[in-house]
Amino acid sequence: MKRVRVIGVGPGDPDQVTIEAVTALREVAYFVVTDKSGRGGMPDPLVNARERLLDRHLERAPVIVRVDDPERERRPDRTATQDEYDAAVARWHEERRAAYEEALLSHDGDAGFLVWGDPAFYDSTIRILQSLQARGRLDLQLDVVPGISSIQLLAARHRIVLHEVGQALHVTSGRRLHEALAQGQDNIVVMLNRVIELDGLEEWSIWWGANLGTASEALVAGRVGDVLPAIDEARDRVRAAAGWVMDIFLLRREA
Ligand SMILES: C[S@@+](CC[C@H](N)C(=O)[O-])C[C@H]1O[C@@H](n2cnc3c(N)ncnc32)[C@H](O)[C@@H]1O
Repeated sequence: MKRVRVIGVGPGDPDQVTIEAVTALREVAYFVVTDKSGRGGMPDPLVNARERLLDRHLERAPVIVRVDDPERERRPDRTATQDEYDAAVARWHEERRAAYEEALLSHDGDAGFLVWGDPAFYDSTIRILQSLQARGRLDLQLDVVPGISSIQLLAARHRIVLHEVGQALHVTSGRRLHEALAQGQDNIVVMLNRVIELDGLEEWSIWWGANLGTASEALVAGRVGDVLPAIDEARDRVRAAAGWVMDIFLLRREA
């Protein structure tokens, strides 16, 4: 039996890691870390962020097993339909699964997978490890440690509740925002934004945040029609400062 711990490590600030997560970080024998730096020789900023986090919370040098992140098909003309997009993600997961299997087979002791934010939101580590478990080559015991999500940090930074009293909250990706609007959703958290297109939503309110919990954090809030240029400008500024940008926002149609 091999114990595999999927550990949510928050959205960037090493202070935003729970005590349960720190205990888990200290207990595992090694960390499996996916590394995107193989693509074009650029260092992967999230690998560096994870290293800083381990440096902060471990009392010994961590054993890091780097796994090259397989190239994922992202060309718009190859991922335009939902079927094409799903097939591209399925291929990518299959390659990641093979890489994880190799890493786990070649190392002894409990393994830790550091997951950005919380493992339950837009992250496939649990799914991929479960499919590895189902294949049966490895006898895995999965254990999930929750983390603070970028969703929570967005709310905390703007000092808001994400929904009105007793009302619903819809969470989706930038790619699926138009579907949420067509369904009539009027209180929506949007993640995984390649571009931000809010045409027709000028009267809505937006609470936007980028690189939350890091030195390049940026926040903008207001009426969409008023603040979109400020968001575009802040996005460019954050990308220039950090070399990467991850942003998330709450959109609400005001009564
Ligand atoms: C692959 S998803 C992972 C989400 C993560 N599991 C969580 O709980 O926050 C990545 C997306 O989460 C959001 N995100 C993650 N970290 C962020 C941060 N520090 N600041 C702003 N958005 C962030 C962005 O929308 C980004 O595109």
